[in-house]
Amino acid sequence: MEVRLSLFGFGNVGKAVAEVLLGKDFLFRKRHGMTFKVVSISDTSGTIWLPEGIDLREALLVKRSFGKLSAWTNEYEVYNLSPEEAVREVDADVVVDVTNDKNAHRWHLIAIKEGKGVVTSNKPPLAFHYAELVGEAERRTIPYLFEATVMAGTPIIGLLRENILGDSVRSIRAVLNATTTFILSKMEQGLEFEMALKHAQKLGIAETDPSEDIQGIDAGYKATILHSLVFGPKTFRDAEVRGIVGLNPENLKEARKLGMRTRLVATVEREKILVRPEKVPANSPLAVENNENAAILETDLLGRIVLKGPGAGPKETASGVVSDIIKAAKLLG
Ligand SMILES: NC(=O)c1ccc[n+]([C@@H]2O[C@H](COP(=O)([O-])OP(=O)(O)OC[C@H]3O[C@@H](n4cnc5c(N)ncnc54)[C@H](OP(=O)(O)O)[C@@H]3O)[C@@H](O)[C@H]2O)c1
Repeated sequence: MEVRLSLFGFGNVGKAVAEVLLGKDFLFRKRHGMTFKVVSISDTSGTIWLPEGIDLREALLVKRSFGKLSAWTNEYEVYNLSPEEAVREVDADVVVDVTNDKNAHRWHLIAIKEGKGVVTSNKPPLAFHYAELVGEAERRTIPYLFEATVMAGTPIIGLLRENILGDSVRSIRAVLNATTTFILSKMEQGLEFEMALKHAQKLGIAETDPSEDIQGIDAGYKATILHSLVFGPKTFRDAEVRGIVGLNPENLKEARKLGMRTRLVATVEREKILVRPEKVPANSPLAVENNENAAILETDLLGRIVLKGPGAGPKETASGVVSDIIKAAKLLG
């Protein structure tokens, strides 16, 4: 089966997705009987569109050398299309959104209405428009998949969406943001917040504008998505969110000496979406390090499930995105 993909976003995750599609082409053919043809790639500079399939090796080279796809003018036509126009015009089976476009819900909805599957790692569409997007996709039996929005490729969405379907989940407690884990670990060693943040930025762990991470917004988006999936739709506006700004390193250092770690913890229950810094025992699954995320799920039948794994990184996020692309292709048949 040949599957045509329209790729939106060619940043860290987009490039990693292209690399996986290139590098594992043979395996996907053998294991799933599928070949993937990327028919368009868009970044903020434009859209490269070729119905016969784009040479991903060259696309990666152009983006890495010039920083923008619009520099690629010798062989390919560069189109100036809005995502809405590109979703309508480009003939594709699956639209892959690995952008950070906060208004992407608009073109997700168009894609669903056009009968195209959607795979996304972009959180705001789901954190604000879950009911509309998932509802529309279900009515039309179109795959709308978002594994990589929470815990990158560590399969918490798949677990909740496709497994334990007879269980009633009572609560989820989770650490869902790796940048804050890094900063808090440094503060536990006595570094002031500002210094810890600078350190994280220098290593490329925190963004130049780190506000979504340090204010707990990113974790809040993810907790909201989990809530919508488990207990029914809510939006980020229903979440109570406190970040890690203003914490005192002395307090964290003392707690650490007493066997407690400070982490940004999300609690998701039927009537609650809460994100705030909490002290957790050093031997708790929530006392994660580095780019690890962890979630403790309590269900009526299974009791306690612990899921732990990478929660960030291009390759780790591409794992979730590519898995969803394969699922979407299977569902579209
Ligand atoms: N990195 C991670 O570890 C991780 C983990 C889980 C989820 N995510 C999510 O995955 C998404 C991508 O992350 P990233 O790290 O790859 O970000 P990134 O490096 O900043 O890349 C974002 C890409 O989206 C493009 N873009 C933005 N708006 C667009 C639009 N309207 N149309 C077409 N392209 C557009 C940008 O174009 P330009 O190149 O022209 O700027 C860029 O190529 C984000 O939503 C992020 O929250 C990331």
